[in-house]
Amino acid sequence: YDTKTTPYKTSDKFSFAYVSVRDRWPVILTQAIDDVFRHTMASKDPEHTKEGKTIVEQLAKMKYEMQHDRVVTPLEDDGEEDIKDYNKELEQLGNPKWFEAPWLFIECYLYRRIQVSMNLTKTWKSHDVFHLQKNSTFKSSLAAILELASKYRHIVEGPSAAEELTPEQVAEKEKLLFIEMAEICLWGNATDLSLLTSLSYEDIQKLQGSEARKKSEKNILVNDLSDVYDMLLKQKNEGKKERRVDIVLDNSGFELFVDLILGGYLLYAGLATEIVFHPKSLPWFVSDVLPKDFADLLNALHDPVTYFSSSDEPENNKENKAASLSDAQKSDLESLFSHWSKFHADGKFVLRPNRFWTTGGSYWRLPKTAPELFEDLQKSELVIFKGDLNYRKLTGDADWNPTTRFEEAIGPLGEVGSGIRVLALRTCKADVVVGLPEGKDEELRAGDAAGEGRKWAWSGKWAVVEFWDGKA
Ligand code: F6P
Ligand code: MG
Repeated sequence: YDTKTTPYKTSDKFSFAYVSVRDRWPVILTQAIDDVFRHTMASKDPEHTKEGKTIVEQLAKMKYEMQHDRVVTPLEDDGEEDIKDYNKELEQLGNPKWFEAPWLFIECYLYRRIQVSMNLTKTWKSHDVFHLQKNSTFKSSLAAILELASKYRHIVEGPSAAEELTPEQVAEKEKLLFIEMAEICLWGNATDLSLLTSLSYEDIQKLQGSEARKKSEKNILVNDLSDVYDMLLKQKNEGKKERRVDIVLDNSGFELFVDLILGGYLLYAGLATEIVFHPKSLPWFVSDVLPKDFADLLNALHDPVTYFSSSDEPENNKENKAASLSDAQKSDLESLFSHWSKFHADGKFVLRPNRFWTTGGSYWRLPKTAPELFEDLQKSELVIFKGDLNYRKLTGDADWNPTTRFEEAIGPLGEVGSGIRVLALRTCKADVVVGLPEGKDEELRAGDAAGEGRKWAWSGKWAVVEFWDGKA
């Protein structure tokens, strides 16, 4: 049930796949090795130390095999169900080498194999090699967090000065607010760690502030948010009691923060009555959300001074603003904390992990390989897929003509009556893109530095917001 369109491969010299396996993944693995090494050295438990050394050896071995373009080896059995599927797929692919494998599959394999090394130990099973990195970047986002916390509070604690507005103007204003919230949520994806490894505090601030967002609006190449709002409003006006919105999460830290902002706003505005968040079950693509990251985020809001002042990575945290938090800022964060904790306690914010999200295939397989999850998602009014990887999985990471309709590229989910409403909020960090107007790709390619390929789509500067209503 995969697409017949050719998937991107690590052998495509002009694609980001090739750059990834050649330049990016060795760095990511080196960082993982460093992390395990540091924890190993710091440990007083002999078993932990011994196992840590074995993990370092295994990760170094994977890095060697990758850089020397060896055959990708089957995953060792760590007792989990999904191993046989990964290995079956490798076999079906004809046991490729690192530089000749489908990009999507081999990148998933990379993160799954890191987890195998952890699972084969007694004391490292729940270790997240990317935890420190995630934490440190989140700390750098403080300025944007404060800006949004204050904005959110103003919205949910009622309008300020009473404006004289006609009902039409009120309606228009509410719609614009929804669009802004969704765009905040979209651009929160620009700061993912697998791509932007060494951003400074200042760079991150530039990416996240409201100025940056305004400037970026023209960079949203397709924007279906207006239709999405009309649909949610219609459900609300029809008086349907239970209206669930799902968010298939991407990155933790700042992006998760803006996902919660959007979720909280939808509940507040009555556009949804329940938000279901879908995290990953193992450390994934460096910065993706694990259930623990969710709890960590709430704790950080609850005790911001301690959290934002502590420095586990001092070198990235020089400009520490936490000590100078004003009372108003502290109270904005506390207000968010109590809002969101209450939603969580009342069952309006629900966290629902599923192993399907860390399998090696695309979402074309969802109805057949994870039917219970598919049926669950059909119960939702809207399923929001955040970020680049989710988009690659939706479209099978295939070399589509960029003017291909979105619903065609997402296969079974895009069929009429698929029963699922799909919204992709994606900043472009990979070659695949669909749904563009005629001529747009050519225009953007002309702006790329010399060379073939779709470089404009690699940097996170451009975005697409695409919607398919499978319930219509
Ligand atoms: O394209 C670069 C990349 O790191 C891919 O490996 C991956 O698809 C994606 O970006 C991760 O980004 P996101 O966190 O937005 O899914
Ligand atoms: Mg991610």
